[in-house]
Amino acid sequence: MSLETVLETAWGLLQEGVTNRKKPFHTPAAASISADFKPSIRTVVLRSIDQTKKTVRFHTDIRAKKYAELTANPYLALHFYDETKKVQIRLETTACLHNRDEVAAEAWSLSQSMSKVCYSTPIPPGASVAVPPAALSLEEANMEIGYDNFGVVEGAINYLEWLQLSAKGHERAGFRWAADGTLICKWLGP
Ligand SMILES: Cc1cc2nc3c(=O)[nH]c(=O)nc-3n(C[C@H](O)[C@H](O)[C@H](O)COP(=O)(O)O)c2cc1C
Repeated sequence: MSLETVLETAWGLLQEGVTNRKKPFHTPAAASISADFKPSIRTVVLRSIDQTKKTVRFHTDIRAKKYAELTANPYLALHFYDETKKVQIRLETTACLHNRDEVAAEAWSLSQSMSKVCYSTPIPPGASVAVPPAALSLEEANMEIGYDNFGVVEGAINYLEWLQLSAKGHERAGFRWAADGTLICKWLGP
């Protein structure tokens, strides 16, 4: 495969991760940096990939730890692994956060009711609770409060790294976009 084909294949797999919830790329790990410079990582649902703008999105509750971490330090990394294809993709991005703006409003309007309910819980993510709370029903949920808590994290992709495991020889490639959009592609030692 040429570097060009590798990059096209990577975009295709990422796009498939958005639309096909059965694919492992649907739920990447997203890493941020804590206030005391520790790595902080969790699973998220991949909501969109824009190959032209080179952006990636997921949704989150703005009361979650990651939102505060990304507000303080926008460096956001995402990790994907497809066990069946033996492909790992790593993304280095700079996050832009959206809450109660046009981007958040559009994403909220396209969200399922069951997803919206989660954002209306009065218990902030990570808060200490005596026992695990029951899920809110649709009737109990206050969607206005939910919308206020709803955030879209959009990462501007600066670097994409590809690793294909193979008995014939692993293939690893790096793709870096400069601020002016110039792309530098390289094969790397696996
Ligand atoms: C399959 C799966 C999908 C998840 N999707 C999301 C998501 O899209 N957004 C999100 O904020 N948390 C999601 N979570 C929960 C996070 O992994 C995490 O537990 C939560 O957001 C709190 O993270 P934080 O305290 O580091 O902010 C998901 C968890 C799992 C297991």
